[in-house]
Amino acid sequence: MSLSLKFYIAIITIISGALICALLFFHEPIDPWWMILVWGISGWVADAYPIEVRKVNGNKWVIGLGMTFNLSAAVLFSPISAMIISMIAGLPAFHRLAWYKIVFNVAQISIATFLAAFTYRLFPVNLEIVRIFAIAAAIGVYALINNSFVAGAVSMAAKKRFGGILRDVLVDFFGISIFISLAIAYLAIYIYPYVGFYVIFVILGPLLAIRFVIDLYRKFLNTKLEAMYALMKALEEKDPYTAGHGERVSLYCEVMAEKMGIYGKQLDDLKIAAQLHDIGKIGVRDIVLNKAAKLTDVEYDEIKKHPVDGARIISEIPSLNRIVPWVRYHHERWNGTGYPDGKKGEDIPLEARIIGICDVYDALTTKRSYRDEYTHEEAIKIIVAGSGKDFDPELVSILVESQDRFNEIRIAKAPSYMGER
Ligand SMILES: [Fe+2]
Repeated sequence: MSLSLKFYIAIITIISGALICALLFFHEPIDPWWMILVWGISGWVADAYPIEVRKVNGNKWVIGLGMTFNLSAAVLFSPISAMIISMIAGLPAFHRLAWYKIVFNVAQISIATFLAAFTYRLFPVNLEIVRIFAIAAAIGVYALINNSFVAGAVSMAAKKRFGGILRDVLVDFFGISIFISLAIAYLAIYIYPYVGFYVIFVILGPLLAIRFVIDLYRKFLNTKLEAMYALMKALEEKDPYTAGHGERVSLYCEVMAEKMGIYGKQLDDLKIAAQLHDIGKIGVRDIVLNKAAKLTDVEYDEIKKHPVDGARIISEIPSLNRIVPWVRYHHERWNGTGYPDGKKGEDIPLEARIIGICDVYDALTTKRSYRDEYTHEEAIKIIVAGSGKDFDPELVSILVESQDRFNEIRIAKAPSYMGER
């Protein structure tokens, strides 16, 4: 982490802490602790289980509704209570994050929530129409502050321009979720005077119902995915050398993803793609797949069709649309010498690059019909030598940094013919 990023996180943390201290010093009222806890935990749950809506073209909206709880708290509770609620809701869910990322996230969300509360109180909300504007203004301030803080951290960590990153983050943010958040927050604020704290059930009820329906639908879609895993397993079992290849590549990808801050749905999709990346080999003849001698040009061309065939097979499952290009491009190389399309550098999707490098590590460290396996150290050496040529240099560094975990997985998941190791 660079010095400027450390400084940035420290400043935001100090501002958040100073705000809470100042509010306590001026005896700002705090709502009952049990209310703060229930509201904060509900917000955390809403963020931990985001609603995902997949559009026809494979893009999707992820609607994390933690923001709804923070915003309604900013209006209904005292500013300091709202800040504490947003800090609870902002704690990480199931992905492991470095401690400074947790501190940063909690601090920046609490500042955004405080400023939303402050903005709302600037309006004389005695008229309904003014109240709508006040809530909209609070949401706008919350969105701007929250996204600016995040864009600032990303631009420092990735050394990219702040403006460009902020624009990307805001474009993502102003999707359907902002309208759902606005609608639910407004509903909660409107009903609060009549039902008091029980308004939380008014928010949670529809949320749980929507989730239940979406989960049912997803289970229905998964039956196709299960069939594809079975197909993949059958393909791997035909060749003892590739048995367990998909699972290992998936585990290696998970290690890299964790280092790169990829989590949630993106990580889930990456793991599915890693498991299924070679499914197109179903169309390659066994004598070619298992040939011990050097392949002829015609045979090699047959092998080279597998990413395109795999992408076509996977495109049969609409819910897997996103991973189609990841499968198609897993044999592309950083300098453009790969196949099927000779894509270069960052034109190759990041996920395809991750699968590609993990695929090579596994291929090198397992036996093939035409050669013995390389040791872990030899494989790392070969991959380092290919940095900037075959592989994205940044990914090579990440792999080298996490090589001990790669080695652990390699040993734990070694194919049965390597049982003695
Ligand atoms: Fe492949």
